[in-house]
Amino acid sequence: MEGAAVRLRAFADRHETPSPCLLIDLPTLESTYRTMSHAFIGAEILYAVKANAAPGVITTLARLGAGFDVASLAEIELCLARGVPASRLSFSNPVKKRSDVAAAYERGVRTFAFDNPGDLRNIIVEAPGSKVFCRIQVTPPAAAMPFGAKFGCPEEAAPEMLAEAADRGLRPQGVTFHVGSQQRNLAAWDAGIAAAAKIAQMLEPEGVRLPVIDIGGGFPISYRERSATPDEFARAIDLSLARHFEPRDRPRLVIEPGRSLVGPSGMIRAEVVAVRGGVPADPRRWVFLDVGRYNGLVETENDTIAYRIHAPAGFGPEGPVVLAGPTSDGDDVLYKHTDYAMPLSLAPGDPIEVMDAGAYTSSYSCAAVNGLPALPTFCVPG
Ligand SMILES: Cc1ncc(COP(=O)(O)O)c(C=O)c1O
Repeated sequence: MEGAAVRLRAFADRHETPSPCLLIDLPTLESTYRTMSHAFIGAEILYAVKANAAPGVITTLARLGAGFDVASLAEIELCLARGVPASRLSFSNPVKKRSDVAAAYERGVRTFAFDNPGDLRNIIVEAPGSKVFCRIQVTPPAAAMPFGAKFGCPEEAAPEMLAEAADRGLRPQGVTFHVGSQQRNLAAWDAGIAAAAKIAQMLEPEGVRLPVIDIGGGFPISYRERSATPDEFARAIDLSLARHFEPRDRPRLVIEPGRSLVGPSGMIRAEVVAVRGGVPADPRRWVFLDVGRYNGLVETENDTIAYRIHAPAGFGPEGPVVLAGPTSDGDDVLYKHTDYAMPLSLAPGDPIEVMDAGAYTSSYSCAAVNGLPALPTFCVPG
């Protein structure tokens, strides 16, 4: 994102943006969307709003034709307020109040996911005639952010619930699942696709057809480690679909990318608060930043996401550092096991950049740890 970084730096300087802040490069967002839709040609793309709900992000993706995967009434309101038609929203969180189902329906939302009989009942009553997906639990290879057992019913429970949905006037669309975020294994989607094919076969004798498969998000980006490209993931998923479905039964594909769409467009601009020498047991310098775990870099917890973090060019030779956030919390240390180096000349006030930071940063930052505000976002046009 070098061209983008130049543009973002110029914007930050011109507008004297506060530090820290997240800058989103809208031309990068647009080209990432185009790359994704070109790779997954013919698939419906629902952007997972939780990754970054900045108005400029929603408006840009809506203009490009994306739909939106929303997980709460607040996200629904946010999309509607940006002019997204309710018909392009899918309320995919199986954990929702009955009153939220009713409110979503009242606002025009007609697509829902469920994974349990209680939620299905709420949709039957409060959102009659809606399209529904049944979320199943999968056990994919390890991802940076796994979902564990929180979501999804056992595969065996899906046919009965989907048949009931059809019986009670809903329109079953298919199965959905999520393989965990920043999932770097090309084969991770195969088991879910196989399960969906089995469920579709079991429902056929009952006259229930499943025309769609929603394989969720999870597509990774390249932070410090290189990940496979959207093309490579699309090819692997296409092969899985061909392997598990007869050509005439092949469902339409829906994907719900969050991180892979918005991550590459973001850069956090931060600055050094203080530099402290190491101790005999650990001679690395400590570099304290004004951004940390609580105001934007939550995914550094357990060294989960190793961002590319650097000072812009011109600061000279580097040495090993421990990077820490600004709060009075002892856990606000970015990395405990991942090695980082920073220029030896670094001093308070110097700028720091965190690259590919568009996803799960501002949307996951806390509003009031030590009274610090949540990470502000600026969307930068080309
Ligand atoms: C249901 C659902 N779909 C899509 C996503 C987006 O995942 P990712 O950002 O890994 O693409 C999430 C993220 O948590 C999710 O819960």
